[in-house]
Amino acid sequence: MDTKTTTISQEALAEQAAYCREIRAYWEASGITPRAFVDTYGCQQNEADSEKIRGMLAQCGYVMAEDEEGADVIVLNTCAIREHAEQRVYGNVGALVHTKRRHPGQKIFLCGCMMGQEHVVKKIRESYRHVDGVFNPHQLWRFPELLKSVLDNGKRIFATEDSPGSIAEGLPLQRKAGVKAWVSIMYGCNNFCSYCIVPYVRGRERSRKPEDILAEVRDLLAHGIRDITLLGQNVNSYGKDLGLGVDFADLLARIAALPGDFWLRFMTSHPKDATKKLFDTMAASPKIAKQFHLPVQSGNDRVLKEMNRRYTRAQYLSLVDYGRQVMPELVLTSDIIVGFPGETEAEFEDTLSLIEQVRYDALFTFIYSPRKGTPAATMPDPVSRQEKNRWFDRLVAAQNRISEEIHRSYEGKTMRVLVDGTEDGLLTARTEGGRLVRFSGDESLVGQFVLVEITGHTTWSLEGRLPENCDCHGNLL
Ligand code: SAH
Ligand code: SF4
Ligand code: F3S
Repeated sequence: MDTKTTTISQEALAEQAAYCREIRAYWEASGITPRAFVDTYGCQQNEADSEKIRGMLAQCGYVMAEDEEGADVIVLNTCAIREHAEQRVYGNVGALVHTKRRHPGQKIFLCGCMMGQEHVVKKIRESYRHVDGVFNPHQLWRFPELLKSVLDNGKRIFATEDSPGSIAEGLPLQRKAGVKAWVSIMYGCNNFCSYCIVPYVRGRERSRKPEDILAEVRDLLAHGIRDITLLGQNVNSYGKDLGLGVDFADLLARIAALPGDFWLRFMTSHPKDATKKLFDTMAASPKIAKQFHLPVQSGNDRVLKEMNRRYTRAQYLSLVDYGRQVMPELVLTSDIIVGFPGETEAEFEDTLSLIEQVRYDALFTFIYSPRKGTPAATMPDPVSRQEKNRWFDRLVAAQNRISEEIHRSYEGKTMRVLVDGTEDGLLTARTEGGRLVRFSGDESLVGQFVLVEITGHTTWSLEGRLPENCDCHGNLL
């Protein structure tokens, strides 16, 4: 396997910046302020990529629009993880025929993980002729060049060459305003879980250099960001390709040592690579949030093996035990796939018993969806969709009960939360463990850490109030 990380050269990126200047000049000469709409599907990785797309568009002179109507450029950043995600994209791309008819100069681009699949690109080429440009995740940094080409000659452009992947440092970024930010620390995935499309569309694992990540985090902190989530498909293998002797736990410790009051989170962790050192590092730093998203996928060893997850139920449970031993307050969440090909009801029930044993705070649950080109897609899958739906409902009901019980146990506690916004006249905030809390208070508290007393709960969130013996900044009087 090629483990050398290729970096896009500064000259190549400067060329892209030059395309941006030309596009900006073109719009300025026409006296129009162009508008762009970027629609994102899928996970935080895609959200983070969309921040780069918005950054490049802003550099080209575009202002962001609220929706598709009348936008001069539309970018759909797509997700391929399940059939349903793809169907939504096809539906929405189809509808853009009408939007474009009302605004014929409109340029439509598709990018993201779906565009890493040959059969999807073929379908777009043949059946969605109103789409002007397509690029896969490896070609994202070339977006200004692609846009310029389409604006210049009106011809469709497809930048879909496959690649093991590269890193482009220093792309412009437009983040949403607020107190939270994502920072990608690595890209790609080497795990090839048998059901998953991600390694095929996002290339091999490659890590950003620690100093580039630290510089980005320092800048975020200087701009008032208080909640930072480090992103990667498997952050636990961070650094393996760099050969610098810096692993994920070391990176966390270095970031947590930066001055300032903030919470540091990360996702996602693969259980096979989660180490005791990582848990110990988390436990040792008050800035590293005591929250762990540790996808288990299944509670049955045969299914785990077929999924190519490379851990057993017992190994997973002992990891959880260790994590809770060093961090009793740890908030634990997970992903589960129901109805993997060949899974029996008894095997599904092992997953049910695992969630009863672990008692996660929350779960993300999915019914298995075959992905073309993955090994699982060719495995016999005799269980009906109806039956899988029944299992799914049992899992969700069990988890809802557990989440509700855990949320109930928060009542009466006073917790430190970070206020991140407002909703229906209430403040919204997150606990260190990432739980949502709503309470009434002054809008000036947005962006601040405060103490709240938890007074009520639902399955998914908590209700609270600012304590009476407390100034509005959460300091006890
Ligand atoms: N890299 C992350 C997960 C990324 S995908 C990790 O390994 O934890 C997010 C979740 O989608 C996965 O954890 C899995 O539960 C689910 N998923 C992935 N492929 C799927 C498929 N083909 N069908 C159903 N769910 C899937
Ligand atoms: Fe997919 Fe597995 Fe990689 Fe996660 S670790 S992205 S589930 S292949
Ligand atoms: Fe979807 Fe790609 Fe993320 S497939 S879940 S957007 S990595």
